[in-house]
Amino acid sequence: MQCVLEIYRKTQFNQFTLYLKTSLMKIIIIGASGTLGKHINLVLKGEGREIITAGRKSGDLQVDIDSPESIEAFFKKVKHFDALVCAAGSGHFGPLKKMTNSDFLTGVNSKLMGQVNLVLIGQHYINPKGSFTLTSGILSDDPVVNGANLSAINSAVNGFVTGAAIELENDVRINVVSPGVVEDSPNFHAAFPGHTPVTMEKVAKAYERSVLGAGTGQIIKVF
Ligand SMILES: NC(=O)c1ccc[n+]([C@@H]2O[C@H](COP(=O)([O-])OP(=O)(O)OC[C@H]3O[C@@H](n4cnc5c(N)ncnc54)[C@H](OP(=O)(O)O)[C@@H]3O)[C@@H](O)[C@H]2O)c1
Repeated sequence: MQCVLEIYRKTQFNQFTLYLKTSLMKIIIIGASGTLGKHINLVLKGEGREIITAGRKSGDLQVDIDSPESIEAFFKKVKHFDALVCAAGSGHFGPLKKMTNSDFLTGVNSKLMGQVNLVLIGQHYINPKGSFTLTSGILSDDPVVNGANLSAINSAVNGFVTGAAIELENDVRINVVSPGVVEDSPNFHAAFPGHTPVTMEKVAKAYERSVLGAGTGQIIKVF
């Protein structure tokens, strides 16, 4: 159901009144219950916006981004939308010496193809001038021990965004936020020796900039 907001203003001379009717901006946040997602949700909430949260088990609607069939069914339910943020998807974290083809593919099928498929399928449902915001991470630029899978996946997500930005039609934008390890993930801090965890406020602001700003094809680094 599409809601309509009615905003009523008077001119400064008080000679006539102006009626402006605006549709709600429909924003999907996949992974909204997660460490990053909770803060993205808070920063994007606001007048004139409808937030739809989603996760495998959590959220208003369920979707498993590892499955293209689940993504297709999800968009059929949502129909049209103005912005999609993805802060979901996992990769393999472990030593290169023990890494197998199957370990590597868990990251490819989830964090990489999950986000790529959200765009490949979602481009047929997004409204003109809408936006996609994906998530990569610092390991594309600054590797740590055990992080080879995520270094590769994050670089691929960044590359997909720069390539897709010049082909998306109807003025649809796409950006990726690349955060460093965040303050609210203390369990990860030991794996990132010498890194200064980034504040949740800074990370959430990067998503706000992507969704509400005008940039496209940007890798928004927060580290
Ligand atoms: N935390 C960090 O320090 C950090 C730093 C840089 C980059 N990142 C990246 O940011 C993203 C989010 O990280 P996070 O720490 O916020 O994760 P998190 O706390 O584990 O939260 C993950 C969120 O994604 C949803 N989710 C997980 N798998 C899904 C799937 N297959 N389909 C749909 N929803 C799924 C979860 O909901 P359900 O449980 O309901 O599925 C949950 O809402 C990841 O890609 C991560 O690599 C994180």
